[in-house]
Amino acid sequence: MNSELLVSDARHFRIDYAINPYMDTAIQPDTEATLAEHQAIVAAHLAAGRKIEYLPSAPECPDMVFTANAALIRGDRAVLGSPPPERRAEIPYFRAWLSERRYEVVTAPYSFSGQGDALACGDLLLAAHGQRTDARMLDVLASELDYEVVALRTSGARWYDLDLAVGVISPGMLAYCPEALDEGSVRTLRGLGLDLIEVSVEEAARFALNLVSDGVTVTMTQGAPVLAAALRERGLETVELDTTELAKGGGGIRCTALALDNPPAAVRR
Ligand code: ARG
Repeated sequence: MNSELLVSDARHFRIDYAINPYMDTAIQPDTEATLAEHQAIVAAHLAAGRKIEYLPSAPECPDMVFTANAALIRGDRAVLGSPPPERRAEIPYFRAWLSERRYEVVTAPYSFSGQGDALACGDLLLAAHGQRTDARMLDVLASELDYEVVALRTSGARWYDLDLAVGVISPGMLAYCPEALDEGSVRTLRGLGLDLIEVSVEEAARFALNLVSDGVTVTMTQGAPVLAAALRERGLETVELDTTELAKGGGGIRCTALALDNPPAAVRR
């Protein structure tokens, strides 16, 4: 998992609007610093042996560096994201890129935050609704991508995407912040029979869970030493990177990488 990722770049990253509680148009990222931050993330993926595909960002799309929201991909099928109006101009670029590479591209009929709200964990799809994703999308994802969908809800706008509240470490292991989910969702996660690592609200708010793991190496922010230590205790390698500039857009490492290698279901139901 996460051995093949689609990234964009931070050339046009700006805070033109505030569509999540972390964004403030008065606090702009430093372009050079953001470019360096993003390049370091890509370099870490490559060093971990991951294959990187690249789609250049467009000037009219200040959030395009956050490719995770563009779609959810499984096998050769992609369900496109349907983001808030401020980000809609991104979608045609991703649609074209995916179509050119012969993905079967499905248009989302309802609002959908893409992989931001839909984390693959083997044949399970941990999918959130209630913030950026319409509840009706969960059935669409189940039928279009043949996932067994686990419906979750975060506890509020601070966790506007599920990838801020839950991180998939391997198909058998999740990290999550209990305070970032509603009570029913915490019970649901605890009932899955997976190894669970609990993360504090302080580390989660610094985007600790917004990580990319291939099951061997976890690429994550450097603001979460407790989670990093817990991962190393479990035999994982951690690479901790500065994500200060990306955080001004309300995102981190997971948000900048769309997985292209989610394996298709072994037997179609
Ligand atoms: N500024 C972006 C937005 O609010 C950040 C998206 C981060 N992506 C993510 N998968 N959490 O849409």
